[in-house]
Amino acid sequence: MLSAVERKIEQFVSELNDKEVTSLYAQLPHGKRLRAKLILKIAGSRLSVIKTAAVVEMIHAASLLHDDVIDDAYTRRSKPSLNALYGNKTAIMLGDILYSKGFLELNIISSEIAKMVSNAVVQLSLGELKDVSLSKTFNLNKEIYLEMIYQKTASLMEASAGAAALLAGKDKTVYMTYGRNLGIAFQMIDDILDITADTTTLGKPALHDFEEGKTTLPYIYLYEALGYDDAAKLKALHAKKLSKEEQVWIKSKMEDEKVIEKSYNEAKVLIEEAILLMNERGEEALSSIAMAMIERDF
Ligand code: IPE
Ligand code: IPE
Ligand code: MG
Ligand code: MG
Ligand code: MG
Repeated sequence: MLSAVERKIEQFVSELNDKEVTSLYAQLPHGKRLRAKLILKIAGSRLSVIKTAAVVEMIHAASLLHDDVIDDAYTRRSKPSLNALYGNKTAIMLGDILYSKGFLELNIISSEIAKMVSNAVVQLSLGELKDVSLSKTFNLNKEIYLEMIYQKTASLMEASAGAAALLAGKDKTVYMTYGRNLGIAFQMIDDILDITADTTTLGKPALHDFEEGKTTLPYIYLYEALGYDDAAKLKALHAKKLSKEEQVWIKSKMEDEKVIEKSYNEAKVLIEEAILLMNERGEEALSSIAMAMIERDF
């Protein structure tokens, strides 16, 4: 039923009645459609469900358009990002257009769904702002990191699952917990992959996060584990373009201190909790989505 979501997105975009927007949107490569899949698996394929899934994917696409401007990222989904091709102004405006069309359509679906999803977008934006502010510091506070990734990534997955549960008449609290755990784990793994995956598999440059000033979970753990001199060296490399040698140094220290395993296990605990919740309800397809996430390498 994912194809019905694709068609709905195309319809929403064509309703904007603007040739430039249609052409720009057509140039965006499709992602994994993870959020749409969650919604369909929870709520089936009625029209209101298809519409909600389409809106959520448009909102997600908008957040990535803005995110690549914020992160100075020139690759997205293995292709040049829209900001790389047409500049920041175009990327920002296409993001705004997708957000606004999404909100308009949400209001037509139902005010309950509209509130749930738009509140998540507020959280997402607050999270992105926090990510930017934190990257100006050398953040070593894990609680603050967790709160930020909940806001920027998990809130939309939590709301996707919650909205789908509402549409299906299921217990929204359980599904929101599932979405929240999935989202936090997903961002933790995304942050790990920035360190461990090579540029080709990742579809974006590796070790970019730390160069952008982001001290994600493995960096927080590494700093805690290092002795005085190495910790000072790590801090000195923060938010700078790294030489090959410096990259190798960071990676080898991470290996010595086993911080990747430690971070990965933390994501795994959240995923296992999500799997348990879904197994209790006989929601095997949703357990499988969660399972696949810990095996993800891109
Ligand atoms: C990317 O999300 C942004 C993060 C939350 C890390 P996805 O990996 O779900 O993006 P696409 O849509 O599949 O490209
Ligand atoms: C997630 O953060 C972005 C959003 C939630 C919009 P990242 O900045 O880590 O995502 P990638 O790595 O660019 O996909
Ligand atoms: Mg980014
Ligand atoms: Mg970002
Ligand atoms: Mg990332």
